[in-house]
Amino acid sequence: MENQIKKLKDEAIKEIKQSKALAALKKLEVKYLGRKGELTKVLRGLHDLAEEQKPKIGQLANEVKTELEQLIKNIQIELEAGGGVQTSQPIDLTLPGQKYPLGHLHPLTIVQRQLEEIFSRMGFMVLEGPELESEYYNFESLNIPASHPARDMQDTFYIKDQPGWLLRTQTSNQQVRTMEKYGAPLRAIFSGRVFRREATDASHDSAFYQLEGLMIDKDISIAHLITAMKTMLKGIFKKDVKVRLRPGYFSFVEPGFEVDVSCLLCDGKGCGVCKKTGWVEMIGAGLVHPKVLAAGGLDPKIWSGFAFGMGINRLVMLKYGIDDIRLFMSGDLRFLEQF
Ligand code: DAH
Repeated sequence: MENQIKKLKDEAIKEIKQSKALAALKKLEVKYLGRKGELTKVLRGLHDLAEEQKPKIGQLANEVKTELEQLIKNIQIELEAGGGVQTSQPIDLTLPGQKYPLGHLHPLTIVQRQLEEIFSRMGFMVLEGPELESEYYNFESLNIPASHPARDMQDTFYIKDQPGWLLRTQTSNQQVRTMEKYGAPLRAIFSGRVFRREATDASHDSAFYQLEGLMIDKDISIAHLITAMKTMLKGIFKKDVKVRLRPGYFSFVEPGFEVDVSCLLCDGKGCGVCKKTGWVEMIGAGLVHPKVLAAGGLDPKIWSGFAFGMGINRLVMLKYGIDDIRLFMSGDLRFLEQF
Protein backbone atom coordinates (compact mmCIF):
# COMPACT_ATOMS: atom_id res chain seq x y z
CA MET A 1 0.00 0.00 0.00
CA GLU A 2 2.76 2.39 1.00
CA ASN A 3 4.64 1.69 -2.20
CA GLN A 4 1.52 2.09 -4.24
CA ILE A 5 1.00 5.59 -2.80
CA LYS A 6 4.61 6.56 -3.37
CA LYS A 7 4.47 5.36 -6.94
CA LEU A 8 1.29 7.29 -7.49
CA LYS A 9 2.94 10.37 -6.03
CA ASP A 10 5.97 10.14 -8.32
CA GLU A 11 3.83 9.66 -11.37
CA ALA A 12 1.56 12.54 -10.43
CA ILE A 13 4.45 14.92 -9.79
CA LYS A 14 6.06 14.05 -13.08
CA GLU A 15 2.86 14.57 -15.03
CA ILE A 16 1.90 17.77 -13.23
CA LYS A 17 5.30 19.32 -13.79
CA GLN A 18 5.06 18.61 -17.48
CA SER A 19 1.70 20.26 -18.00
CA LYS A 20 1.93 23.32 -20.22
CA ALA A 21 -1.62 24.62 -20.11
CA LEU A 22 -4.19 25.36 -17.45
CA ALA A 23 -6.71 22.99 -19.02
CA ALA A 24 -4.26 20.10 -18.89
CA LEU A 25 -3.39 20.95 -15.31
CA LYS A 26 -7.05 20.96 -14.36
CA LYS A 27 -7.43 17.51 -15.89
CA LEU A 28 -4.56 16.17 -13.80
CA GLU A 29 -6.05 17.66 -10.69
CA VAL A 30 -9.25 15.77 -11.39
CA LYS A 31 -7.32 12.62 -12.30
CA TYR A 32 -5.47 12.45 -9.00
CA LEU A 33 -7.38 14.52 -6.48
CA GLY A 34 -10.91 14.62 -7.89
CA ARG A 35 -13.83 12.88 -6.27
CA LYS A 36 -13.13 9.78 -8.31
CA GLY A 37 -9.40 10.50 -8.49
CA GLU A 38 -6.69 7.97 -7.92
CA LEU A 39 -5.46 9.26 -4.60
CA THR A 40 -8.99 9.67 -3.38
CA LYS A 41 -9.60 6.04 -4.21
CA VAL A 42 -6.67 5.06 -2.01
CA LEU A 43 -7.97 7.15 0.86
CA ARG A 44 -11.38 5.56 0.48
CA GLY A 45 -9.79 2.13 0.65
CA LEU A 46 -8.43 2.90 4.13
CA HIS A 47 -11.17 1.18 6.07
CA ASP A 48 -10.24 -2.15 4.55
CA LEU A 49 -6.75 -1.94 6.11
CA ALA A 50 -5.69 -3.57 9.31
CA GLU A 51 -6.31 -1.31 12.30
CA GLU A 52 -2.61 -0.69 13.10
CA GLN A 53 -1.80 0.31 9.51
CA LYS A 54 -4.55 2.86 9.19
CA PRO A 55 -2.90 5.89 10.90
CA LYS A 56 0.40 5.48 9.08
CA ILE A 57 -1.02 5.02 5.60
CA GLY A 58 -3.68 7.63 6.22
CA GLN A 59 -1.07 10.19 7.20
CA LEU A 60 1.08 9.38 4.20
CA ALA A 61 -1.84 9.68 1.79
CA ASN A 62 -2.83 13.00 3.31
CA GLU A 63 0.72 14.32 3.03
CA VAL A 64 0.87 13.34 -0.60
CA LYS A 65 -2.49 14.99 -1.17
CA THR A 66 -1.28 18.27 0.37
CA GLU A 67 1.95 18.12 -1.56
CA LEU A 68 0.18 17.60 -4.87
CA GLU A 69 -2.32 20.36 -4.13
CA GLN A 70 0.50 22.76 -3.39
CA LEU A 71 2.38 21.77 -6.54
CA ILE A 72 -0.71 22.23 -8.69
CA LYS A 73 -1.31 25.64 -7.16
CA ASN A 74 2.26 26.77 -7.86
CA ILE A 75 2.20 25.60 -11.42
CA GLN A 76 -1.17 27.20 -11.94
CA ILE A 77 0.24 30.53 -10.79
CA GLU A 78 3.15 30.19 -13.18
CA LEU A 79 0.90 29.26 -16.08
CA GLU A 80 -1.46 32.12 -15.35
CA ALA A 81 1.42 34.54 -15.29
CA GLY A 82 2.28 33.28 -18.76
CA GLY A 83 5.62 31.88 -17.69
CA GLY A 84 6.83 28.45 -18.71
CA VAL A 85 6.95 25.65 -16.23
CA GLN A 86 10.56 24.83 -16.84
CA THR A 87 12.01 27.34 -14.46
CA SER A 88 15.41 25.89 -15.16
CA GLN A 89 15.38 27.85 -18.42
CA PRO A 90 16.56 31.43 -18.18
CA ILE A 91 13.88 34.11 -18.32
CA ASP A 92 14.19 36.48 -21.27
CA LEU A 93 13.76 39.90 -19.70
CA THR A 94 13.79 41.62 -23.07
CA LEU A 95 10.51 39.99 -24.15
CA PRO A 96 7.77 42.57 -24.65
CA GLY A 97 5.10 42.62 -21.96
CA GLN A 98 1.68 41.13 -22.38
CA LYS A 99 -0.78 43.45 -24.07
CA TYR A 100 -4.08 43.84 -22.30
CA PRO A 101 -7.07 44.51 -24.55
CA LEU A 102 -8.18 48.12 -24.18
CA GLY A 103 -11.82 49.12 -24.31
CA HIS A 104 -12.98 51.92 -26.57
CA LEU A 105 -15.99 54.09 -27.27
CA HIS A 106 -19.13 52.77 -28.89
CA PRO A 107 -19.57 54.00 -32.50
CA LEU A 108 -22.70 55.90 -31.47
CA THR A 109 -20.76 57.68 -28.75
CA ILE A 110 -17.92 58.51 -31.15
CA VAL A 111 -20.28 60.23 -33.57
CA GLN A 112 -22.36 61.81 -30.81
CA ARG A 113 -19.22 63.46 -29.45
CA GLN A 114 -18.21 64.64 -32.93
CA LEU A 115 -21.66 66.18 -33.37
CA GLU A 116 -21.40 67.93 -30.01
CA GLU A 117 -18.05 69.33 -30.97
CA ILE A 118 -19.28 70.58 -34.36
CA PHE A 119 -22.25 72.36 -32.81
CA SER A 120 -20.22 73.75 -29.91
CA ARG A 121 -18.05 75.47 -32.48
CA MET A 122 -21.20 77.10 -33.88
CA GLY A 123 -22.08 78.40 -30.41
CA PHE A 124 -24.62 75.76 -29.42
CA MET A 125 -24.99 74.60 -25.82
CA VAL A 126 -24.83 70.82 -25.37
CA LEU A 127 -27.68 69.72 -23.11
CA GLU A 128 -29.29 66.51 -21.95
CA GLY A 129 -32.78 65.71 -20.82
CA PRO A 130 -34.89 63.05 -19.15
CA GLU A 131 -35.81 59.74 -20.81
CA LEU A 132 -38.80 59.35 -18.52
CA GLU A 133 -41.01 62.20 -19.63
CA SER A 134 -44.45 63.70 -19.20
CA GLU A 135 -47.01 63.70 -21.99
CA TYR A 136 -46.88 67.45 -21.77
CA TYR A 137 -43.25 67.90 -22.86
CA ASN A 138 -43.18 64.93 -25.23
CA PHE A 139 -46.43 65.81 -27.03
CA GLU A 140 -48.70 68.61 -25.81
CA SER A 141 -46.13 71.40 -25.65
CA LEU A 142 -45.13 70.42 -29.19
CA ASN A 143 -48.58 71.15 -30.54
CA ILE A 144 -49.73 67.53 -30.42
CA PRO A 145 -52.93 67.53 -28.33
CA ALA A 146 -54.26 64.27 -26.89
CA SER A 147 -56.70 63.57 -29.71
CA HIS A 148 -54.27 64.53 -32.47
CA PRO A 149 -53.48 61.81 -35.05
CA ALA A 150 -49.79 62.80 -34.94
CA ARG A 151 -49.60 60.88 -31.63
CA ASP A 152 -50.02 57.71 -33.63
CA MET A 153 -46.98 58.51 -35.75
CA GLN A 154 -44.86 57.39 -32.83
CA ASP A 155 -45.98 54.31 -30.92
CA THR A 156 -45.33 55.07 -27.32
CA PHE A 157 -44.37 53.14 -24.22
CA TYR A 158 -46.58 54.51 -21.45
CA ILE A 159 -45.67 53.97 -17.82
CA LYS A 160 -47.87 51.49 -16.01
CA ASP A 161 -50.09 52.98 -13.30
CA GLN A 162 -48.59 56.47 -13.87
CA PRO A 163 -51.03 58.35 -16.09
CA GLY A 164 -49.41 61.09 -18.12
CA TRP A 165 -45.92 59.55 -18.04
CA LEU A 166 -44.04 57.81 -20.84
CA LEU A 167 -40.63 57.01 -22.27
CA ARG A 168 -39.80 59.90 -24.56
CA THR A 169 -40.39 59.09 -28.21
CA GLN A 170 -38.24 61.96 -29.43
CA THR A 171 -35.57 64.35 -28.18
CA SER A 172 -37.97 67.13 -29.18
CA ASN A 173 -39.18 66.74 -25.57
CA GLN A 174 -36.33 69.10 -24.73
CA GLN A 175 -37.50 72.00 -26.89
CA VAL A 176 -39.95 73.68 -24.53
CA ARG A 177 -37.97 72.65 -21.45
CA THR A 178 -34.97 74.50 -22.89
CA MET A 179 -36.91 77.62 -23.86
CA GLU A 180 -38.39 77.77 -20.37
CA LYS A 181 -34.99 77.45 -18.78
CA TYR A 182 -32.83 79.65 -21.01
CA GLY A 183 -35.22 82.02 -22.81
CA ALA A 184 -34.11 83.63 -26.09
CA PRO A 185 -31.88 84.04 -28.02
CA LEU A 186 -30.94 80.41 -27.76
CA ARG A 187 -28.76 77.83 -29.46
CA ALA A 188 -28.77 74.31 -28.07
CA ILE A 189 -28.49 70.68 -29.06
CA PHE A 190 -29.68 67.74 -27.02
CA SER A 191 -29.02 64.13 -27.82
CA GLY A 192 -29.97 60.89 -26.18
CA ARG A 193 -31.96 57.72 -26.27
CA VAL A 194 -35.57 57.60 -27.41
CA PHE A 195 -38.07 54.74 -27.34
CA ARG A 196 -40.72 53.47 -29.73
CA ARG A 197 -43.08 50.58 -29.24
CA GLU A 198 -42.65 48.95 -32.62
CA ALA A 199 -41.52 45.75 -34.26
CA THR A 200 -37.79 45.66 -34.84
CA ASP A 201 -36.08 44.97 -38.15
CA ALA A 202 -32.87 45.95 -39.91
CA SER A 203 -33.83 49.63 -39.85
CA HIS A 204 -36.03 49.87 -36.72
CA ASP A 205 -35.16 49.29 -33.09
CA SER A 206 -37.28 50.00 -30.03
CA ALA A 207 -34.54 52.16 -28.56
CA PHE A 208 -32.27 54.40 -30.59
CA TYR A 209 -30.46 57.72 -30.36
CA GLN A 210 -31.46 61.10 -31.67
CA LEU A 211 -29.82 64.46 -31.94
CA GLU A 212 -32.04 67.49 -31.76
CA GLY A 213 -31.13 71.11 -32.29
CA LEU A 214 -32.85 74.39 -31.65
CA MET A 215 -31.82 77.90 -32.62
CA ILE A 216 -33.96 80.86 -31.65
CA ASP A 217 -33.22 84.46 -32.45
CA LYS A 218 -34.69 87.35 -34.39
CA ASP A 219 -35.27 86.73 -38.13
CA ILE A 220 -34.20 83.11 -38.29
CA SER A 221 -34.84 81.66 -41.73
CA ILE A 222 -34.52 78.38 -43.60
CA ALA A 223 -31.12 79.60 -44.84
CA HIS A 224 -29.82 79.34 -41.25
CA LEU A 225 -31.21 75.83 -41.04
CA ILE A 226 -29.59 74.69 -44.28
CA THR A 227 -26.23 76.16 -43.34
CA ALA A 228 -26.28 74.45 -39.97
CA MET A 229 -27.20 71.10 -41.55
CA LYS A 230 -24.49 71.36 -44.20
CA THR A 231 -21.89 72.30 -41.61
CA MET A 232 -22.91 69.35 -39.49
CA LEU A 233 -22.81 66.87 -42.37
CA LYS A 234 -19.48 68.14 -43.65
CA GLY A 235 -18.03 67.77 -40.15
CA ILE A 236 -19.17 64.16 -39.92
CA PHE A 237 -18.49 62.96 -43.46
CA LYS A 238 -15.41 65.13 -44.02
CA LYS A 239 -16.61 66.26 -47.42
CA ASP A 240 -19.32 68.44 -48.92
CA VAL A 241 -22.62 66.61 -48.81
CA LYS A 242 -25.57 67.56 -50.98
CA VAL A 243 -28.86 68.09 -49.20
CA ARG A 244 -32.40 68.32 -50.52
CA LEU A 245 -35.45 69.64 -48.71
CA ARG A 246 -38.89 68.13 -49.18
CA PRO A 247 -42.02 69.32 -47.44
CA GLY A 248 -42.70 67.18 -44.37
CA TYR A 249 -45.25 67.33 -41.60
CA PHE A 250 -44.18 67.74 -37.99
CA SER A 251 -46.72 69.46 -35.74
CA PHE A 252 -44.08 71.55 -33.97
CA VAL A 253 -42.65 73.28 -37.05
CA GLU A 254 -44.17 75.37 -39.81
CA PRO A 255 -43.08 74.98 -42.52
CA GLY A 256 -41.68 71.49 -41.91
CA PHE A 257 -39.19 69.57 -44.01
CA GLU A 258 -37.59 66.24 -44.53
CA VAL A 259 -33.93 66.84 -45.23
CA ASP A 260 -32.44 64.21 -47.53
CA VAL A 261 -28.72 63.65 -47.85
CA SER A 262 -27.06 62.45 -51.05
CA CYS A 263 -26.18 58.78 -50.57
CA LEU A 264 -22.52 58.50 -49.63
CA LEU A 265 -22.29 54.79 -50.20
CA CYS A 266 -22.99 55.03 -53.93
CA ASP A 267 -22.25 58.74 -54.44
CA GLY A 268 -25.85 59.34 -55.45
CA LYS A 269 -25.82 56.71 -58.19
CA GLY A 270 -28.39 54.50 -56.44
CA CYS A 271 -27.81 51.46 -54.22
CA GLY A 272 -29.55 49.22 -51.67
CA VAL A 273 -29.14 51.69 -48.82
CA CYS A 274 -30.75 54.61 -50.68
CA LYS A 275 -33.25 52.25 -52.34
CA LYS A 276 -31.87 53.23 -55.74
CA THR A 277 -32.88 56.87 -55.32
CA GLY A 278 -29.46 58.36 -54.59
CA TRP A 279 -30.91 60.09 -51.50
CA VAL A 280 -31.21 59.04 -47.87
CA GLU A 281 -33.89 60.50 -45.64
CA MET A 282 -32.01 61.71 -42.60
CA ILE A 283 -33.29 64.78 -40.80
CA GLY A 284 -36.65 66.23 -39.81
CA ALA A 285 -36.61 69.99 -39.53
CA GLY A 286 -38.45 73.26 -39.90
CA LEU A 287 -39.13 76.65 -38.46
CA VAL A 288 -40.41 76.49 -34.89
CA HIS A 289 -44.21 76.70 -34.74
CA PRO A 290 -45.54 79.88 -33.06
CA LYS A 291 -47.52 77.71 -30.60
CA VAL A 292 -44.32 76.00 -29.49
CA LEU A 293 -42.54 79.33 -28.99
CA ALA A 294 -45.51 80.49 -26.94
CA ALA A 295 -45.47 77.28 -24.87
CA GLY A 296 -41.83 78.07 -24.13
CA GLY A 297 -42.79 81.55 -22.94
CA LEU A 298 -41.44 83.35 -26.03
CA ASP A 299 -43.35 85.94 -28.04
CA PRO A 300 -43.68 84.59 -31.63
CA LYS A 301 -43.95 88.16 -32.90
CA ILE A 302 -40.42 88.87 -31.72
CA TRP A 303 -38.68 85.51 -31.90
CA SER A 304 -38.32 82.90 -34.62
CA GLY A 305 -36.26 79.78 -34.82
CA PHE A 306 -35.38 76.54 -36.54
CA ALA A 307 -35.44 73.05 -35.09
CA PHE A 308 -34.18 69.74 -36.40
CA GLY A 309 -34.02 66.17 -35.22
CA MET A 310 -32.43 63.04 -36.58
CA GLY A 311 -31.53 59.49 -35.70
CA ILE A 312 -27.86 59.24 -34.82
CA ASN A 313 -27.96 55.51 -35.62
CA ARG A 314 -28.92 56.33 -39.19
CA LEU A 315 -26.07 58.78 -39.52
CA VAL A 316 -23.56 56.27 -38.14
CA MET A 317 -24.92 53.58 -40.45
CA LEU A 318 -24.40 55.80 -43.46
CA LYS A 319 -20.97 56.91 -42.31
CA TYR A 320 -19.63 53.38 -41.76
CA GLY A 321 -21.83 51.42 -44.18
CA ILE A 322 -23.65 49.42 -41.46
CA ASP A 323 -26.70 47.57 -42.72
CA ASP A 324 -28.53 46.52 -39.54
CA ILE A 325 -29.53 48.95 -36.78
CA ARG A 326 -29.86 46.11 -34.26
CA LEU A 327 -26.09 45.64 -34.23
CA PHE A 328 -25.69 48.78 -32.10
CA MET A 329 -27.35 47.26 -29.06
CA SER A 330 -26.24 43.69 -29.71
CA GLY A 331 -23.12 43.92 -27.58
CA ASP A 332 -21.45 41.79 -30.26
CA LEU A 333 -17.71 42.35 -29.96
CA ARG A 334 -17.07 41.27 -33.56
CA PHE A 335 -19.07 44.35 -34.54
CA LEU A 336 -17.89 46.74 -31.84
CA GLU A 337 -14.19 46.01 -32.24
CA GLN A 338 -14.20 47.41 -35.75
CA PHE A 339 -14.43 50.99 -34.52
N1 DAH B 1 -38.97 64.50 -33.49
C1 DAH B 1 -39.04 64.08 -34.87
C2 DAH B 1 -39.04 62.58 -34.93
O1 DAH B 1 -38.66 61.94 -33.99
C3 DAH B 1 -37.87 64.63 -35.64
C4 DAH B 1 -37.96 66.10 -35.84
C5 DAH B 1 -38.61 66.60 -36.93
C6 DAH B 1 -37.40 66.97 -34.92
C7 DAH B 1 -38.70 67.96 -37.15
C8 DAH B 1 -37.47 68.35 -35.13
C9 DAH B 1 -38.13 68.83 -36.27
O2 DAH B 1 -36.95 69.24 -34.29
O3 DAH B 1 -38.18 70.17 -36.48
O4 DAH B 1 -39.42 62.02 -35.92
